[in-house]
Amino acid sequence: MLAALLGLACRAAPSVSMTAAPNGATPVWEVDNPVLPLPAPPLGSPADFAATPWVTPAKVRLGRWLFHDTRLSADGTLSCASCHRSAHGFSEATATSTGVGGQRGSRKAPPILNAAWPIYPAWFWDGRATSLADQAKGPLANPIEMAMPLDDVVAIVAARPGYRRAFAEAFSDERLDIDRVAEALAAYEATRLSGNAPADRFDAGDEAALTPAQRRGRALFFGRAGCNRCHLGPNYTDSRFYNLGAGWRPPAPGAPAPSGFADPGRAAVTGDARDTGAFKTPTLREVSRRAPYMHDGSLATLRDAVAHYRAGGIPNPWLSELSRPIPLSDTEVDELVAFLGALDGEGFADRPPRSFPR
Ligand code: HEC
Ligand code: HEC
Repeated sequence: MLAALLGLACRAAPSVSMTAAPNGATPVWEVDNPVLPLPAPPLGSPADFAATPWVTPAKVRLGRWLFHDTRLSADGTLSCASCHRSAHGFSEATATSTGVGGQRGSRKAPPILNAAWPIYPAWFWDGRATSLADQAKGPLANPIEMAMPLDDVVAIVAARPGYRRAFAEAFSDERLDIDRVAEALAAYEATRLSGNAPADRFDAGDEAALTPAQRRGRALFFGRAGCNRCHLGPNYTDSRFYNLGAGWRPPAPGAPAPSGFADPGRAAVTGDARDTGAFKTPTLREVSRRAPYMHDGSLATLRDAVAHYRAGGIPNPWLSELSRPIPLSDTEVDELVAFLGALDGEGFADRPPRSFPR
């Protein structure tokens, strides 16, 4: 495998004709990352490419390069895929993200799954982006993520004839600007799908797709535990914002230490104090693959997450009125955890392209 990768890297290095390919040779990076048809949405996924005509095969191919290209970060070490990892449903296995220069952010990278078809258009934990393409500019420029001035991103891409050719193919004219970079990234993100999980097969009528414990967990999820008041629809999220208490720092006993939320959450976007500590409901698809949980990764396991709900969240002045203690036995907690495991499906996995446009 390694030998194969090295072999390809070597072939990618010298003397490949770049833009016009006058000798008819296709550049090796185009061979490595061909234009492919849009994926067929797996069972249960809300993906509907008819509703997103801007997602085209040529843009997806271009976005796949951009998403994995470390040349777009300030020190050349990070790409989008450094924090949004395929193995973790395009989320990550750490509580918060580490950006260029080892700087730690305060939020966890959310998964990117069925991301182009939300119930309400809101991206980031606080919903400050209102389109997927708008969203993509954030991490490029964020000083503790990729730390690249957006003009520099465009300059890096435009300096490479291989990229210019891919942009011209994807957008049918020569204009190359940050909006098109963002649109291509968003097109690739739109193809990271999730579905055909045991829960989807059960919903489609295959009773045996869930174990008896998972079936009891499902009944709790949609019934007495009321999880579907917020985790609803085909992506198990209402795209709304709630304070469940994650991230609350209680006042230190006896000390006049400040209490509050290190991260104001939705309130920073709306300016409404009532939104303090409120974060976007995440999808629960592929949830077992991305512990620890919540916007700050403060809950280590799925069991801890369910126990958090059993307790009614963490008391604080802005706790959602929907967050109330739920009487659940230990066995029922296990059954809910078992059902969450039945939301792991397929349709998102990818690996970085072997070579990139020059
Ligand atoms: C250093 C780690 C890091 C890198 C690099 C990174 N991200 Fe993120 N990403 C995050 C974090 C953390 C969040 C949540 C930030 C927030 O809510 O304020 C996020 C949020 C997102 C979201 C929103 C998901 C949702 O459901 O709301 C998308 C989409 C996304 N990133 C795509 C990208 C793209 C595209 C790139 C590359 C241009 C990228 N990310 C690079 C860490 C990273
Ligand atoms: C009032 C709305 C609401 C209800 C009801 C609700 N959730 Fe959540 N859920 C959220 C929000 C909002 C978050 C993110 C909170 C944060 O990061 O601070 C979340 C996060 C999670 C996470 C972590 C996912 C991740 O990617 O980090 C899990 C697991 C989860 N919920 C499961 C459940 C289960 C199981 C139930 C039922 C017992 C439930 N939720 C009920 C809104 C809700």
